[in-house]
Amino acid sequence: MEPVKVGLLGLGTVGGGTVSVLTANAAEIARRAGRGIDIAHAAAREYRPETIRGLDRIGRIGDDAFALVEDPEIQIVIELIGGYSPARELVLRAIENGKHVVTANKALIAKHGNEIFAAARAHGVVVGFEAAVAGGIPIIKALREGLAANHIEWIAGIINGTGNFILSEMRDKGRDFSEVLAEAQTLGYAEADPTFDIEGIDAAHKLTILGSLAFGIPLQFERCFIEGISGIETQDVVYAAELGYRIKHLGIARRSDCGIELRVHPTLIPERRLLANVNGVMNAVLVKGDAVGPTLYYGAGAGALPTASAVVADLVDVVRTLTTDPNNRVPHLAFQPDELADTPV
Ligand code: HSE
Repeated sequence: MEPVKVGLLGLGTVGGGTVSVLTANAAEIARRAGRGIDIAHAAAREYRPETIRGLDRIGRIGDDAFALVEDPEIQIVIELIGGYSPARELVLRAIENGKHVVTANKALIAKHGNEIFAAARAHGVVVGFEAAVAGGIPIIKALREGLAANHIEWIAGIINGTGNFILSEMRDKGRDFSEVLAEAQTLGYAEADPTFDIEGIDAAHKLTILGSLAFGIPLQFERCFIEGISGIETQDVVYAAELGYRIKHLGIARRSDCGIELRVHPTLIPERRLLANVNGVMNAVLVKGDAVGPTLYYGAGAGALPTASAVVADLVDVVRTLTTDPNNRVPHLAFQPDELADTPV
């Protein structure tokens, strides 16, 4: 079968990581998707070619994002430019043009997701957003698929890698807040506007998405209580440690008597607890379902390759849906049963 042609908006940290992963693992990804994936067209204002493996495999690189979403060759648009606008306009245009969309943009989904998913439904296309929450942790798939049998009672998690990196470095090395934030920016963890990380806005975007999936409610970012970590000083972290606690920035979504509660804020956690020991850029999400009980998901919450891992997972999912021919469907196992005879064991 012909490879699927995809378009990539953005060649920054996550865009570059996505090209690199699609290049490094091309054969395995094609096997899992059922066909190859070609980046036929990319649009980026600026990028660092030396950091991207496989740039030469991209069919065409331009700087006109609106031209890309009109490109008739493209079946799937991967939106990795971030922010509210022009991401919203680009994604809506891609959907109107009948293209599936994969995005890592939590701000976009949290704020405009209701409109975007309604448009996708009207046009019969898929919008994948696994990479929007908790970087490489497949938490969206866990909530939507793995825990589908459960009545979800609550979610509590560390869902901003930059904030967790800052708090961990302050506690472990006594480093200064602004110095660690600058390092998080250099490492590609922080948002383009790092205020989103340190004021809790990024975590609130992600919690809005998790809350919507867990409790079946519309996306309601405006109703989330938000407090960030910008007021925390090194001595707060050190005193908390002396008392046997760690300060962690948590996102909490839970059912209460008055409805669904969505809140992000710094929290004192006894140091023996699992979440207290999630350090650096790592994220962790605890989900309590009535049938399964508490479950924990842990992994890198930011960075080029972990986030690209989630982007490509969605891409593989979308490519699988492109065929309705049962004979061409990718099996749930990692091989076609009729190929077994040729497979060395
Ligand atoms: N700035 C985000 C974070 C990136 O630090 O978690 C991943 O969403």
